Amino acid sequence: MQHIMARSALRRKGRTVACAAVTSPTDDPALANALRALGCANATELVIGGIPARELAERFGTPLYVFSAEVLDARLRAVQDALGPRLGVLYSIKSNPSLAVTARLRAGGAGAEIASLGELHLAIAAGHAPSALRFAGPGKTDAEIQAALKLGLGCFHVESADEVRAIAAAAQAAGQRAGVAVRINLPQELGGSRMRMSGRTSRFGVDAAEAPQLLREIAASAPLHLRGLHVYAGTQGFDAAAFVRHAKALVLAAEQWERELGISLDELDLGGGFGIATYAGDPEFDLAAAGRGLQELIAEHDRPGRVWLVELGRFLTAPCGVYLTRVVRSKLSGGEAHLALDGGMHQHAAACGIGTVLRRPPLLVHATDLRGSPVAKVTLGGPLCTPADQFAEQLALPPLRSGDLLAVLAAGAYGLTYSPHGFLSHATPAEVMITGGSARIVRERGRAEDGLRGQHL
Ligand SMILES: Cc1ncc(COP(=O)(O)O)c(C=O)c1O
Repeated sequence: MQHIMARSALRRKGRTVACAAVTSPTDDPALANALRALGCANATELVIGGIPARELAERFGTPLYVFSAEVLDARLRAVQDALGPRLGVLYSIKSNPSLAVTARLRAGGAGAEIASLGELHLAIAAGHAPSALRFAGPGKTDAEIQAALKLGLGCFHVESADEVRAIAAAAQAAGQRAGVAVRINLPQELGGSRMRMSGRTSRFGVDAAEAPQLLREIAASAPLHLRGLHVYAGTQGFDAAAFVRHAKALVLAAEQWERELGISLDELDLGGGFGIATYAGDPEFDLAAAGRGLQELIAEHDRPGRVWLVELGRFLTAPCGVYLTRVVRSKLSGGEAHLALDGGMHQHAAACGIGTVLRRPPLLVHATDLRGSPVAKVTLGGPLCTPADQFAEQLALPPLRSGDLLAVLAAGAYGLTYSPHGFLSHATPAEVMITGGSARIVRERGRAEDGLRGQHL
């Protein structure tokens, strides 16, 4: 792993330098928006949910993830308002499998979409009825399918004919009927998306050309209940019009197959992947335009009994989260300033550009000096023994020294659980949620000995 990460860091090196120009809250709209979402548009120090980041770091230690319940609520409300009452919102738990975050979104009216048995247990613990959950993912094992049925799962988002047969066999053996919706790999790609998952040969979804035969088979299968169709074609999409066009393609395909096959496809999950600014210079997704387009689409194709859904992860969770990390050591090397932090790639891999093609600095601020002049150029990264553990190279920030507090904004999605936190066996960070001006631990800090758990000589 170390070898692979070192190589990818070398490959990224040249690009990092070229992209490090946009640096301070005042000149980067993405950073300014992330601060505004936290209510810190004009603040001189970072405050989360009414509590200064400085106080949170002192009280709970660093590295630390902090989630604002009010910002989370506001995100969900904004999405619900923009999409209108006919479009249900499912929370994609993978973006932040925090029990507190999942429960909060459920309380706000979001359903949930899961992608593992672990997420199924988490969703149930967060208060979701299993019968209301959808289970996606191309590699569900027979054991997982059986366990999900036993727990009363409502609907499998199926990704292959092979999987359909496994679910039918499991349901038959259990004397149950399993709900299924077929994930479709439409022939067109989702434009404007940073990572595309359909419109080409893919492990995800059933090719549109193969779908009619499979839909016929499901409709004729006694242990299966055909619920409808699902599509999820890519993540970090910043083109609202392209999303609406893609959704329309699914709706038209559903209507055509209903006519041709004499079947009902009542549930249409139009997918998600709405983009959120995560790196310097990132654009904004036009939620209002997506909402208008989707509401028009629904108005044209609605009917009684039809269930319309979207599934969103990062767009709901990213803005509510902040990752706090302190400078541990500073030095000059080859005339350049280097900072070693207590947090890094093992806890926030995305902030180090892992999973991105073009590496750019994350939305990083000096937490106690938001308005300070960005006069110091620093290369900064975490404690791991790999150059891949680096947030940014020669980034202009207000002067920093050991003990100072840095914050990665828009860190509420794909944080800890997206990161290789077993690498180098550091303790995992605590997670704190702030509600009504008071902070509580929602995930305990790990311990240095945790790496020994379950191991035997
Ligand atoms: C099937 C499916 N649904 C939903 C999501 C959530 O995506 P995002 O967090 O970009 O909204 C993903 C992410 O990979 C996914 O694969």
